[in-house]
Amino acid sequence: MPSATPFDTDETDRLLSTTRAVRRRLDLGRPVPQELLLDCIDIAEQAPTGGNQTSRRWLVIQNPDLKKALADLYRDAGGNWISESYQKVAGTGHHNEKALRSADHLAQNLEHVPAIVLVTIYGEHDGSGRPGLFDSVIQAAWSFCLALRSRGLGSAWTSLHLEAADEVAELLGIPDGVSQIVLLPVAWTTGGDFSPAERRTAHDITWFDKWGYTIERPTGEAPLHRDGAGVTVEIDIDAAPSAVWQFISDINLPARFSDEFQGAEWISTQPEIGATFLGHNHNDHMGDWEVTCHVVDYEENRVFAWNSVDAKQAAAQWRFELIPLAGGTRLRFAMILGPGWSGLTMAIEARPDKEAKIIANRQAGQTDNMRRCVEGIRDLATEADPETRF
Ligand SMILES: Cc1cc2nc3c(=O)[nH]c(=O)nc-3n(C[C@H](O)[C@H](O)[C@H](O)COP(=O)(O)O)c2cc1C
Repeated sequence: MPSATPFDTDETDRLLSTTRAVRRRLDLGRPVPQELLLDCIDIAEQAPTGGNQTSRRWLVIQNPDLKKALADLYRDAGGNWISESYQKVAGTGHHNEKALRSADHLAQNLEHVPAIVLVTIYGEHDGSGRPGLFDSVIQAAWSFCLALRSRGLGSAWTSLHLEAADEVAELLGIPDGVSQIVLLPVAWTTGGDFSPAERRTAHDITWFDKWGYTIERPTGEAPLHRDGAGVTVEIDIDAAPSAVWQFISDINLPARFSDEFQGAEWISTQPEIGATFLGHNHNDHMGDWEVTCHVVDYEENRVFAWNSVDAKQAAAQWRFELIPLAGGTRLRFAMILGPGWSGLTMAIEARPDKEAKIIANRQAGQTDNMRRCVEGIRDLATEADPETRF
């Protein structure tokens, strides 16, 4: 049997990693042939669908009056709010300024886009919280975006119109029992190539076997010390990053929630990259011990990271991170074992045949400690200052 023809992965990876939300670079003056849209829909229809049913329906809107009416609904439903939000941050360097500028441009120009494609599916979501229904259509809509991009066209995934779904249905004659999923403005793109966006790395957001368990250098086997096993816990907090920062930058605070860490004091005068502090620990196996911690990342309201024992050959690497969310903060607390010498490596030297088990036990113990810690910080931060609450 001949094997399947391999793809040019450089090209497919480039397609998959550079299909951007295109708004300001949509060519509003160049018509988009309907045949080309049909080709892209044929490709998109190769996406999986629950029960192998063909329930997706694609609505291509090119009539100028309908596009104008649809654009008005889009603006009423949220586009105007986007434009107002952009006006507030314009020129401030706010982290969302670029995205808002682009979204504002689309909101102002939606009726001028050569084709608007509304992706729909027969059925109504049962409200169960399961993805059912949506998971039979979203992958096809994204394949459509990829097919467009590979032909020199672009789109932006939009959903603001869904606030006015009933009005949109009335305007376009969409029957009851059909769900609108996404509205895709389609045009040829202008300018040069597109680049990959900044995203979290797979290492950061991929857990192995158990929730929160990370491996820096996965081998396919249960992780050993040299593989850089770790734990990440996360919690969403109903308070601004600045309200959470005071707690994560307090080196004594985790002692309140840990059954091993007892407290710490600064050795350096300033908390900054390169500064050190001394941590006091206790457990039943090792009794009391002290460890010097080296600050390796420090940015107010964003990140506090330190390596224990040695900055480069760390016994363990620790990191608090604050991620701003709409209406709050996601607190991440991550720990990676090694790569340097520690009580853990001593335990492994004593029982090398049990290394994988020792690592797994350490991950489990730290998960409990770290989870208690982030839950404690959440409670403190939300109680601390009602003024800083969202
Ligand atoms: C579920 C969802 C809804 C979105 N809704 C809108 C929208 O209504 N209007 C808009 O301009 N962009 C919308 N976007 C696009 C995002 O804002 C866009 O992905 C973001 O700007 C990042 O751009 P990038 O994907 O090129 O990195 C939406 C994206 C998703 C995934």
